Amino acid sequence: MILSPSLLSADFVNLSRDVELLKAANVKYLHVDVMDGIFVPNITIGIPVVKALRRVTDLTLDVHLMIDRPERYIDDFCKAGSDILTVHTESTPHLQRALSMIRERGKKAGAALNPSTPLSAIENVLDDLDMVLIMSVNPGFGGQKFIPQALNKIKALKEMIDESGKSIAIAVDGGVTAENIGQIVKAGAEVCVAGSATFRDGYKMIANNVAMLEDSARRA
Ligand code: DX5
Ligand code: ZN
Repeated sequence: MILSPSLLSADFVNLSRDVELLKAANVKYLHVDVMDGIFVPNITIGIPVVKALRRVTDLTLDVHLMIDRPERYIDDFCKAGSDILTVHTESTPHLQRALSMIRERGKKAGAALNPSTPLSAIENVLDDLDMVLIMSVNPGFGGQKFIPQALNKIKALKEMIDESGKSIAIAVDGGVTAENIGQIVKAGAEVCVAGSATFRDGYKMIANNVAMLEDSARRA
């Protein structure tokens, strides 16, 4: 299991401190939530912050685009230093084009599915994917409750991927905690995004929170 802490719950005034604490806790991925106020009802951060993060870290920047028609900005986000770029299946009529744009730029391509979106949304683009991100909350905000239906979706996705014989990572995002991460990993998730569970109780607890999440995943 790879933990991908969502920086949405970090302290934006002390972002590089939090990134250093995550690195010291042996974290490999950083999840960056980009929201445009149109695809989701919230606005967060964009290209300059990805660029700034790239300057201070060599960790994998796992950038989650919750923006309408992401193909308009794929080039910018790739140049800013993203390593994995995930677009939502619901955000563009040209998903295959968006995914191939990401790969052409030498980055890993992900597709995210909202809780109500069926797996059939990605079945025709398996050749273009490095990762599928199953949303276990409706995107837009950190700190929401995990929607348990996501577990069946992860299992079905794992079957779909195994049958295809392709190497595509399954990621889960939203409401992941030390209590449910075991079930999530058991269902087949390899990348677990966690925002509030990573940063809860202040920055001094980051290492502890990361260890708790990883231990619970390992025990599953
Ligand atoms: C939700 C974002 C998530 C979010 C996760 O729209 O995509 O990455 O920050 O936060 P938690 O772990 O608090 O649900
Ligand atoms: Zn996210």
